[in-house]
Amino acid sequence: MSSASDGRHEPLGPPRANAYRDTWATGAIEQPIGKEIKVSGWAHRRRDHGGLVFIDLRDRSGLLQIVFHPEHAAKAHETAGTLRAEDVVSVKGKLVRRDDAVVNPNLPTGHLELQASKIEILARAETPPFQVDEDGPVDESLRLKHRYLDLRRGTIAPIIALRARVVRAMRRVLDERDFLEIETPNLTRPTPEGARDYLVPSRVKPGSWYALPQSPQLYKQLLMMGGLERYYQIARCFRDEDLRADRQPEFTQLDLEMSFVEEDDVIELTEAVLKEVLAEGGIEVETPFPRMCYDEAIGRFGKDAPDLRFGLEIVNLDDVFAKSEFKVFASVLSSGGTVRAINAGQRELSRADLDELTEFVKGHGAGGLVWAFVEDDGGWRSPIAKFLADDERAAAVSALDAKPGDLLLAVADAKSMTAAASLGALRENLAKRFDLIPFGEHKLVWVVKFPMLEFNDDEQRWDPLHHPFTAPDGDLDDPANLGSRAYDIVMDGWEVGGGSIRINTVEVQEKILEVIGIDRSEAEQRFGFLLEALKYGAPPHGGLALGLDRLVALIAGADSIRDAIAFPKSATGADPLTGAPSSVDEHQIRDLHLVSTAPPPAVDAVEGEVSES
Ligand code: AMO
Repeated sequence: MSSASDGRHEPLGPPRANAYRDTWATGAIEQPIGKEIKVSGWAHRRRDHGGLVFIDLRDRSGLLQIVFHPEHAAKAHETAGTLRAEDVVSVKGKLVRRDDAVVNPNLPTGHLELQASKIEILARAETPPFQVDEDGPVDESLRLKHRYLDLRRGTIAPIIALRARVVRAMRRVLDERDFLEIETPNLTRPTPEGARDYLVPSRVKPGSWYALPQSPQLYKQLLMMGGLERYYQIARCFRDEDLRADRQPEFTQLDLEMSFVEEDDVIELTEAVLKEVLAEGGIEVETPFPRMCYDEAIGRFGKDAPDLRFGLEIVNLDDVFAKSEFKVFASVLSSGGTVRAINAGQRELSRADLDELTEFVKGHGAGGLVWAFVEDDGGWRSPIAKFLADDERAAAVSALDAKPGDLLLAVADAKSMTAAASLGALRENLAKRFDLIPFGEHKLVWVVKFPMLEFNDDEQRWDPLHHPFTAPDGDLDDPANLGSRAYDIVMDGWEVGGGSIRINTVEVQEKILEVIGIDRSEAEQRFGFLLEALKYGAPPHGGLALGLDRLVALIAGADSIRDAIAFPKSATGADPLTGAPSSVDEHQIRDLHLVSTAPPPAVDAVEGEVSES
């Protein structure tokens, strides 16, 4: 995160003069010296010095120093002497230039001060639980419990302002291109985006439930069938899933859909939106963005959201070890598995570090991590060196383009996805550990040519990789090789958006539902309304949704999307500010025709833990 509270300066248009203010604190810069102005805000800091009282007055625009002289304005001086941090005040005075010796170069208003003639205290503040006038680290649960104080600091507020500008830019581009902003219901039927639904019981229809939308997917398709052609919405989505730094249970999408389009049309439009949006954060990007096939992304980077800001690419060593007598590699390869590796470069890592990395890949499903340091004579310092033939080591060194001193890290696994994903995660871990990501650099890439389906081992069925309304590409009777017309936009290793061209005939839609194990009667029961609508002439259509919270967090350089949300939830889905979720009155449960089997919570304790584990 960038700005500090002292240096914060949000340029705002002049306020409409009223009883409280006629100028923003930093708006003083545009006023002539000697002018009488009135400002309102919080007492950010107070200093008493040589008989004078100084306060830094803070409003949304930033800070302005105010000086109270005992001889110029005795009453105001006396009142100012009682001010405490975060008291709310309105001050009238004359704008003066500071002496050169006391100019503060860190403040936009650092060459000015307001010589107060009058002060009115609008509200007194108790001592806040953490300091608002400093940007130092404060425990996140405490910050979220008192988010209104956190928002006054210089860290989160600028991101919230950026978010508003981002949304404005989105609307600007889409409005120019004849999109209609249309709202869709929040009390609806379940939409399958792959997460659990949040359910809302119906009071008037006992035993029936609404689901909060995981996305407006089906409604936006129905809007296309309704002939509206171009839709967008800043849509709130709800998904009951395990939370991470880039996931919230309720989050916001820029959701859009277009009729009579192909992949390139949606991609071109999205690039136009993103170019404007990123410019709001001072990030200039060239369009078109590069595109990469899904298989290549998994192969080289171990995930379908590759971070292209650094190297450490994954290399497939199946051919190198095809005839190896080293048991681990031989058994994995003979069972159709894979051996893959990263050249981590010239690194000095201790045994403890390597053990830590081994635990890390194990946490991502791998059985273990093979490590080797390449020695000057081409030999390996590695626990497995003695099990490998000279030509195998040489071939691996050549495949990994390794030099003496390089650290090689390999994973062998019966499942190629496990090997890829664990090395993909390791790659990002190493980039952070060795500080390989150039500051301020951003890389956007489209990932295309996704498979339509992935096999769910637990449930022994095919699941859609995107959602089941995505148009397939290929032979519907060959699910293992069926492609899809989906695309994801990835920024700096985060999936910031995804979409697809949709199915627009009932025959194909029914077939896909059947392939993923939804039989006719279930299809009718869950999606009957969509299947029926498809019978009345659906245009070819497609669209995409951008994750607004992720996008803003990335532009702001924040580590978590929580920083891009005014009132985010903690890792357990709780709101530390209000204490939600909480118990409700017995009669509310009765009214909803529900019986709770859970014991009531002892106290409505506010969840403490915030970060994801
Ligand atoms: P998808 O599920 O890929 O697609 O979501 C689109 C984008 O939304 C963001 N996102 C999230 N952000 C924060 N917290 C979450 N829990 C979360 N889940 C998703 C991501 C993601 O890229 N209906 C389709 C879109 C379409 O096909 O048009 C959909 O929702 O940035």
